[in-house]
Amino acid sequence: MTPEHQKGLTFSIREGLCIEHKPEPCGIVIFGASGDLTSRKLLPSIAYLSSKGLLPKRSFVLGVARTALSPDEFRARAKGVENVYYMYGSYENPDFFLALKARLQELDARHETGGRLLFHLAVPPPLYPAIVEQLGRAGLLEGCVSGGCSRVVIEKPFGRDLESARALDAQLKRRLREEQVYRIDHYLGKETVQNVLMFRFANAIFEPVWNRTYVDHVQISVLENAGVEHRAGYYDGSGVVRDMFQNHMLMLLALIAMEPPASFEADRVRDEVVKVFRNLRPLAGRDLEDHVVLGQYEGYRLEPGVASSSSTPTFAAMRLDVDDWRWSGVPFYLRSGKRLCCRSTEVAVVFKQVPHSLFSPLLPEHLAENALVFRIQPNEGISLTIEAKKPGPKICLGALTMDFDYAEAFGERPPEAYQRLLLDAMLGDPTLFLRQDAVEETWRFCEPLLKTGDIKLEPYATSSEGPEAAQRLIARFGRRWR
Ligand code: BG6
Repeated sequence: MTPEHQKGLTFSIREGLCIEHKPEPCGIVIFGASGDLTSRKLLPSIAYLSSKGLLPKRSFVLGVARTALSPDEFRARAKGVENVYYMYGSYENPDFFLALKARLQELDARHETGGRLLFHLAVPPPLYPAIVEQLGRAGLLEGCVSGGCSRVVIEKPFGRDLESARALDAQLKRRLREEQVYRIDHYLGKETVQNVLMFRFANAIFEPVWNRTYVDHVQISVLENAGVEHRAGYYDGSGVVRDMFQNHMLMLLALIAMEPPASFEADRVRDEVVKVFRNLRPLAGRDLEDHVVLGQYEGYRLEPGVASSSSTPTFAAMRLDVDDWRWSGVPFYLRSGKRLCCRSTEVAVVFKQVPHSLFSPLLPEHLAENALVFRIQPNEGISLTIEAKKPGPKICLGALTMDFDYAEAFGERPPEAYQRLLLDAMLGDPTLFLRQDAVEETWRFCEPLLKTGDIKLEPYATSSEGPEAAQRLIARFGRRWR
């Protein structure tokens, strides 16, 4: 046992309860290698894995892009990564893919990577089908047969709606099998998000109260203070529902609401996730005005690259219901937006009040409800608020918060989500990646929210908590945002 003590918190790591796998040496091929995602997330994450000894020494990284960079320029961006190469050309040109194939054969032989290839498509989504098609034609997507293995990681958005998500999948599946496709939702790579699963399924004490009998409601908030920044080209055509709800927000909801999977095998976990999505009560046919608020921050239309008459929502709040035995009648309130008062992502499970108060003249409603809060970021941690007696001769109650702070307990901030996701993709573990059925169910659910004009767009002041209507939405059901 290795005990760690910090401010009254003890964390004991038991050998045998730590699972660490190291992948076989492989070639990581990054398309979009000259871009922002590669420099900000992918290369630093690969360097981190390498520094921790989790990336086998014989692995190599080949950056592929349309931009002419010298191999040295690319290497300079890949500090801390060994065996780094770069090539550029046109993604439409079959000859370029034949050259890529020859290069990969040479690198595979030189580094003895056994034909294992991980293609990461860090490119705009419209390019996915063409790149996959060309890789397939060049014979680079043979799948996990005869020793070698090709996997393809793609970034969200996976389509713009149900129809386009299906069309994209059909195009990818001409060349790939489902088990070769790794659809990233980076929220699932966050330590604090994975911890929701450990918290729920490695402790027996929460399961008995994790249901409609004890839970009053659940709140999921992803508040951002940043605005659209330099991404207007993408964001103005997408908006908050496509950007945050169809993926990150609904995934957070699924982890809270899912049934215990039969095992921690990827498909058993993903089966339960998709069941939650299937059980979401459709918004179609519901009174959208009562259940959904869409907003746009003041000044959004003046941002560079945003249309001057844009009706793209930058904020949404909604009440959702999961129609199953566990959650029937328990509202899930979700909200997310840009240019808000703060940067904070948290999931709060708010429990019901005591049925009767013994502490006259205090009524049950004078007692604060217990809330279990997963702070996803920043100040990562978990807290539980309980009512407690203030010391003294009188009966005086107050809310006490028991707090677990990730950085304090472990002496470091949680690692970057991409480190975990890249490692899992190399290992061939798709647990934290989205399966196509989940993608389709979430689009199906979001469709009524995508029809612009069906829901009024509420303006809101920057640095606020979003539109007033979001406060009214939750107040209508007798609750308030935390
Ligand atoms: C991305 C969205 O998927 O997630 C961005 O496209 C958003 O608009 C970001 O800002 C939030 O991620 P994080 O990790 O900063 O919470």
